Amino acid sequence: MAKYIVVTGGAGYIGSHTVVSLVENGYTPVILDDFRNANRVVIDGLKAILQAEPIIHEGDICDPNFLDSIFEKYEPLSVIHFAAYKAVGESVAEPLNYYQNNISGLVNVLQKMLEFNISNFVFSSSCTVYGEPKGQKEVTEETEKNLPNSPYGYTKWIGEQIIQDVYNANKHLKVINLRYFNPVGAHKSALIGEFPIGRPNNLLPFVTQTAIGKQEILTVFGNDYPTPDGTCIRDYIHVSDLANAHVKAVDFLMEKKSGLLENINIGTGKGTSVKEIIQAFVKETGVVLNWQNGPRREGDVVEIYANASKAEKLLGWKSELTIVDAVRDAWNWEQYLSK
Ligand code: NAD
Ligand code: UD1
Repeated sequence: MAKYIVVTGGAGYIGSHTVVSLVENGYTPVILDDFRNANRVVIDGLKAILQAEPIIHEGDICDPNFLDSIFEKYEPLSVIHFAAYKAVGESVAEPLNYYQNNISGLVNVLQKMLEFNISNFVFSSSCTVYGEPKGQKEVTEETEKNLPNSPYGYTKWIGEQIIQDVYNANKHLKVINLRYFNPVGAHKSALIGEFPIGRPNNLLPFVTQTAIGKQEILTVFGNDYPTPDGTCIRDYIHVSDLANAHVKAVDFLMEKKSGLLENINIGTGKGTSVKEIIQAFVKETGVVLNWQNGPRREGDVVEIYANASKAEKLLGWKSELTIVDAVRDAWNWEQYLSK
């Protein structure tokens, strides 16, 4: 019997890579996506990687009738909930769209899971829930949460609170909030990857777009921070490693007999500066990159990286790919898009 896993937002960046990992591990993903932030090229990419037609249902996860029809048809073992808006700057300009989609979507999915007696749930959370960590820059799941700096960040913060409250009232639920650090890279085949809409905000898409000539110059946002080279430090996690973490999370939930709620950091455990990313890109690809130092970006966290030991202990997951793999795969994907 097929082991169906509903993947909301499965046509998106992280969702599509997770679909690949699920299939590779014997699950049958059911993608729910209305393509509001996905490109159909990804579906062709998925077909080519999987050598099979993925199951896709086009619809809005905020629509209760849509979820009724899916849960009734597939009786999924678990839901992995990616579908949400994710652009920090846009969320500042259009907060209501973010609260509407990210919060209503989550509430609707949880409501329907309860109605259909589906217990296993994996939620896309973010290291943004830690805000700017006080003191130690390596954060564990026990590190105090701080208020985020954008409506987007609040949707993850409140999302975790909603999940906590729903769990308190429904202790049979088995839930993992995966707190992603900075997802980067693309599938090694370069057939799926990230599609930034408009001018990218995130570092690596800006690097590859500059290298290919879609952007004129990359600006490093601040080089006078209290870090070894003066630029901000993040934990960049390869998207294929991140995808595998979801499979491990689902495996873990399936093994457990009683309810649980766990927050788990998904990162490499290593901090990398903006300049180190640029250096790695130039060294690995041999491409000349046009870049300059510029002013700090408002709201930037100076330094944060994961303590990822809980993921290893609980899920048996740890990152395997490196920054070099990520810059190479992101560059191959950028070149593929430009063909
Ligand atoms: P993405 O935009 O590439 O994927 C999200 C997908 O959800 C898209 O395909 C979009 O079309 C779909 N979607 C959105 N709203 C929908 C709706 N109402 N109904 C149906 N489909 C809908 O984003 P991503 O980078 O893959 O991120 C996935 C999740 O991970 C998001 O929840 C995001 O907030 C979270 N996250 C992402 C990052 C990151 O840097 N990419 C970091 C931390 C957390
Ligand atoms: C940003 C969001 C965060 C979100 C994450 C994933 C902010 C303040 N934070 O995190 O909430 O979860 O994206 O989508 O926006 N950089 C440059 N030049 C650029 C782009 C980025 O120097 O053109 C630097 C940034 O200053 C930062 C690093 O690169 O130091 C990474 O930036 P980015 O990819 O935007 O991720 P975050 O800031 O970690």
